[in-house]
Amino acid sequence: MQLTVLLSLLFLLSTTTTFTYGHNITKILGQHPSLSTFNHYLTLTHLAGEINQRTTITVCAVDNAAMSEMLSKNPSITTIKNILSLHVLLDYFGAKKLHQIRDGSALSATMFQATGSAPGSAGFVNITDVKGGKVAFGPKDNGGNLDVFYVKSVEEVPYNISVIQISKLFPSDVAAAPTPAPSAMNLTDIMSAHGCKVFADTLIANPDASKTYQDNIDGGLTVFCPLDDPFKAFLPKFKNLTASGKESFLEFYGVPIYQSLAMLKSNNGIMNTLATNGDKKFDFTVQNDAEDVTLKTRSTTAKIVGTLIDEQPLAIYSIDKVLLPKELFKAAPTPAPAPAPEEVADAPKSSKHKKPSADAAPSDSPADSPVGDAADQAADNNASVRLDGGRLVAIVLSLCLGLLLL
Ligand SMILES: *[C@@H]1O[C@H](CO)[C@@H](O)[C@H](O)[C@H]1NC(C)=O
Ligand SMILES: *[C@@H]1O[C@H](CO)[C@@H](O)[C@H](O)[C@H]1NC(C)=O
Ligand SMILES: *[C@@H]1O[C@H](CO)[C@@H](O)[C@H](O)[C@H]1NC(C)=O
Ligand SMILES: *[C@@H]1O[C@H](CO)[C@@H](O)[C@H](O)[C@H]1NC(C)=O
Ligand SMILES: *[C@@H]1O[C@H](CO)[C@@H](O)[C@H](O)[C@H]1NC(C)=O
Ligand SMILES: *[C@@H]1O[C@H](CO)[C@@H](O)[C@H](O)[C@H]1NC(C)=O
Repeated sequence: MQLTVLLSLLFLLSTTTTFTYGHNITKILGQHPSLSTFNHYLTLTHLAGEINQRTTITVCAVDNAAMSEMLSKNPSITTIKNILSLHVLLDYFGAKKLHQIRDGSALSATMFQATGSAPGSAGFVNITDVKGGKVAFGPKDNGGNLDVFYVKSVEEVPYNISVIQISKLFPSDVAAAPTPAPSAMNLTDIMSAHGCKVFADTLIANPDASKTYQDNIDGGLTVFCPLDDPFKAFLPKFKNLTASGKESFLEFYGVPIYQSLAMLKSNNGIMNTLATNGDKKFDFTVQNDAEDVTLKTRSTTAKIVGTLIDEQPLAIYSIDKVLLPKELFKAAPTPAPAPAPEEVADAPKSSKHKKPSADAAPSDSPADSPVGDAADQAADNNASVRLDGGRLVAIVLSLCLGLLLL
């Protein structure tokens, strides 16, 4: 009986790791044509996905006329994202709560504040009950001006999401500030300032790879940079790679599309990189591990540990390990007794431009052949069986512990 309870508890735990809740903001707003522009831009800025993954929030929507006014100034997509993220309150305000605010006034944090793009108090919104039962809003950095009013409730799903309509967009110079053209951003400066200096310096020392990164910013770029300690420890192996191996290795850490953390959490699967080129796959697998997002190749698993910047079209995350592309590094030696193959493929000195697998293992190496590939695959399968075994042991152990505690 207790066992059954525990088992169902464990089952519950293992099934609550999905990241979308019941609500779909696109669908909710889709029923209101007068809010369609607001809805469209929530999708375009990828805020919709982030809203769907949160609970206890309030979305303050405005009608198409208010959106047109803002859009007439031709803001960049990043600026639009900043503006709209100021309209997602990180608290639940249904119609009733709005009209019964304790002490008549409250400050709410917003998604703009949560992204870290908002300096000081710029990411907070003041909500105040004014005379005549009206509810007024104003961003905290607006000099105490509360000139935005509650219009009506659009949808309430207590206490997950409340969607309300307000009279106009919150006037915030900070959120509406023009953002630098993405291609003017200096990737390596951002990395260096946030714990990925060794990787950044290595990138600067490899102009071809640097250029590939820089050229891809405008079209959307996501970078996963290894933190200084693991990358420093890895440098001797990096130095052993050929020139084209180095370039591919560095480009392997960039993905030519913009991916917010929310998108990474909901789009698990294989991801191509800047190094992907024809039959040189240089890809990795993105996978959730509870609240974490992991990146996997055959031999390594790294975890996203920080967000350095997330301003569409550019996102840079730090990872806790050096991820090894299978094209350059054979599977790490498993506890097998057999002598491990050398870890770094010492590729033949290749001419500057890459033959299909010039920077993979030497062509006479078995790892290059389909047979070697298949063997790697088998080793992987066995490894995963071992992993499952380990997990089983962990579950049994926690069961025993649970029983002891009961
Ligand atoms: C509200 O969110 C919770 C998760 O926090 C979810 O289990 C529940 O189904 C949601 N409720 C509705 C009505 O969508
Ligand atoms: C949300 O609803 C929209 C429109 O109904 C649909 O296209 C989209 O796939 C939905 N998203 C999710 C995550 O279910
Ligand atoms: C909100 O703004 C009003 C008017 O400027 C001010 O009186 C009130 O103290 C503010 N509320 C909070 C919680 O800061
Ligand atoms: C970024 O800044 C560093 C120095 O901080 C400089 O060496 C590098 O060339 C810059 N990169 C670009 C693309 O401007
Ligand atoms: C670099 O390559 C040489 C020659 O193949 C090898 O002896 C050495 O162990 C390698 N160093 C590292 C750090 O992998
Ligand atoms: C994997 O396990 C199978 C049996 O399950 C075995 O035949 C095979 O040799 C193993 N492969 C490796 C690479 O250990």
